[in-house]
Amino acid sequence: MINLEVNLAEKNYNYPIYINNENISELKKEILKKTTGKKFVVVISEKVNKLYGKILGFNNTDKFVLKDGEKQKTLENYKKIIDFCLNKKLTREDAIIAIGGGVVGDIAGFVAATYMRGITYIQVPTTLLACVDSSVGGKTAINVSLGKNLIGSFYQPSAVFININFLKTLDERNFKSGLGEVVKYAFIEKSCCCVEDFNLTNFLDKNFQKILDKDSKILEELIKICLLLKISVIQKDEKESGLRRILNLGHTYGHAVEKITKYKKYTHGECVVAGIYFAFDLALKNNLIDKNYVFFMQDILKKFNFINIPKFKMEKIIPVMKLDKKSSSDFIRFILPVEYSLVKEFELNDFLTIF
Ligand code: GLY
Repeated sequence: MINLEVNLAEKNYNYPIYINNENISELKKEILKKTTGKKFVVVISEKVNKLYGKILGFNNTDKFVLKDGEKQKTLENYKKIIDFCLNKKLTREDAIIAIGGGVVGDIAGFVAATYMRGITYIQVPTTLLACVDSSVGGKTAINVSLGKNLIGSFYQPSAVFININFLKTLDERNFKSGLGEVVKYAFIEKSCCCVEDFNLTNFLDKNFQKILDKDSKILEELIKICLLLKISVIQKDEKESGLRRILNLGHTYGHAVEKITKYKKYTHGECVVAGIYFAFDLALKNNLIDKNYVFFMQDILKKFNFINIPKFKMEKIIPVMKLDKKSSSDFIRFILPVEYSLVKEFELNDFLTIF
């Protein structure tokens, strides 16, 4: 069992993250120890409910089952979950438990942030992507027709329970999508200013086969490293006014690819990997890094056999990148590598050559 803690000193708020591979039948008891009131609502992914609903042991009457897929993060589903909580007469003392991937965590978190001006919520991520990224840090949101995550808030969970066993039934594509976020951490490690030095690129290089084979101990260690890096960042910048933006390496381009391909053709992680290649290419063209570092990055990424997303024409991608909520109509922000595991934020302006 690995116990981590997020400590947001400025607002005097902290919460634990538990990582283990104990029997899933033990989870309910542990989760309920972290709820304060008498009642709770479980928002659970349909797939996870099918596979683990029985063993998790929550009553059907307490469960809101959400279909899978990014397109479920809608205002309509948000309203349905709110109504479900109201019908259950959930009070401010009660809790929402999110069991699933990023979609469930994001929408259930946003319900928790707004229901009666905020109630306790607990994250139980069941995908690798949610384990290493979305379940920690308090970003909650829903999508609207103009874009992803355009309505949301920063609202921290009161605990995160990561059980490696859920990852064993993830299909390969979904698992690899999480690995897209994992490799991102390797190239930003030094910028995360964590007190510990993990040398994540080395860890990935040494353990890639065990990671792909879903070795439990290696996955626990991998998730721990990624989360310690993320915790280090969010403790310094919870609301993404500066440092937290480094977590967006590969995302400006990646989000644009997702949008152009209508969130259907490629997974988020695949698009982030395409964005990492793009960021390295842009950095090389502008003499921020040398070719050896590009080869080094390519060697690591090749080990995980990510699918190859064809490059998009700049004329097509730039207008879409301008719509990213991290940019503005006049500039596009990029996180680019500048040294081994170090990144910096740049704006697309005259000094950057991109064609
Ligand atoms: N997913 C990036 C962040 O939490 O800031």
